[in-house]
Amino acid sequence: MIYFDQAASSFPKPPEVGKAMIHALNEVGANPGRGGHKLAKEAADIVVETRERAARIFGCSDPRHALFFANATAALNQAIKGLSWSEGDHVIATTFEHNSIRRPLEYIKKQFGVHVTYLPWNQDESSFIQEVKQSINENATLIVMTHASNVTGEVIPIEQTALIAEQYHIPVLVDASQTAGHIPINMREMNIDMLAFPGHKGLLGPQGTGMLLVNGEFEINPLMHGGTGSFSELPDQPSQWPEKLESGTLNTPGIAGMNAALVCYENRNHENVPRETMLTQTLLKGLKQLDGVSCYGSDQQKLRMPMVAFNVLDIPSQEIAMVLDSHYDIAVRAGLHCSPLSHKTLSTTDQGVVRASLSMYNTEEEVEQFLQAVQEITESYKLL
Ligand code: ALA
Repeated sequence: MIYFDQAASSFPKPPEVGKAMIHALNEVGANPGRGGHKLAKEAADIVVETRERAARIFGCSDPRHALFFANATAALNQAIKGLSWSEGDHVIATTFEHNSIRRPLEYIKKQFGVHVTYLPWNQDESSFIQEVKQSINENATLIVMTHASNVTGEVIPIEQTALIAEQYHIPVLVDASQTAGHIPINMREMNIDMLAFPGHKGLLGPQGTGMLLVNGEFEINPLMHGGTGSFSELPDQPSQWPEKLESGTLNTPGIAGMNAALVCYENRNHENVPRETMLTQTLLKGLKQLDGVSCYGSDQQKLRMPMVAFNVLDIPSQEIAMVLDSHYDIAVRAGLHCSPLSHKTLSTTDQGVVRASLSMYNTEEEVEQFLQAVQEITESYKLL
């Protein structure tokens, strides 16, 4: 099997991830922060160590503000719906948002009368930054953006956007679902106030893990209320972080796996252009040479994320993905990728696109086999 669906969930993982999870399940087992015995303390140590490591890697000033969630969607929901909204507040996002941002925004729009501007990304950084500036008005309350499109892999200029936001004192929430693990992110250096990311994509950790990191004193209201293992005498949710925003037993085996993935990430050789990006450039170049194949997104970005979006003639993208799977044993994701706004922008709502996404474990041979397969498929459809 050639696994080119890494943007949906990475596979394989570093062996250390599974080992850490099995250790947490079989040797630790207990509930972190819910008891004074040795095993509960060991479980709590895993959680604290992971908070500290994530905070260090991503430039979050206080590890207690490094919060665990089941995935990036849950982290984004907590950040967006947890803020205190008033009628007329204005939020700025992009037309490349995944539904994990778009749907919570549409919810607060309906629920509280918040206005949302979805800025188009037209592959030109300076005109995008101009659009950001022009869209800021006196009611602007939040800028929330994906760091990179989950369809084309194009990187949105978050750093420049956050600089402007800082001038206007508007908080910035970034969805790093497609960038965390692939390119360095430092919240302090990039003026990012809140950062959400999953453990299971570029970081190569397990599914069921995600984090929200918060710099600064934001008033975020919990979406969940319940047991926190502390302040149990209080009828209300504690105001201390992380307890305030983390009710219920944590996913300790998942967090242990994520910790191991973060250790691997820290130990990796961080080249200027990651290996998976270089492989993707070869893949994109090869696809562009195939007559009958259309590719989407800019090929000018040196650090475009490791995915390519393409179509074969006018064949439905799902059909191409099915042929790749059944005849060539190649896994990709086709359709709308939970990001209908992106497809509207790319004019691919009807056909969708085939997305091939890579990780550092993919190889040049796999890229060659993939190009060969797409060429054969394209030639066959031309004969029909
Ligand atoms: N958000 C994931 C993707 O882009 C699932 O495929």
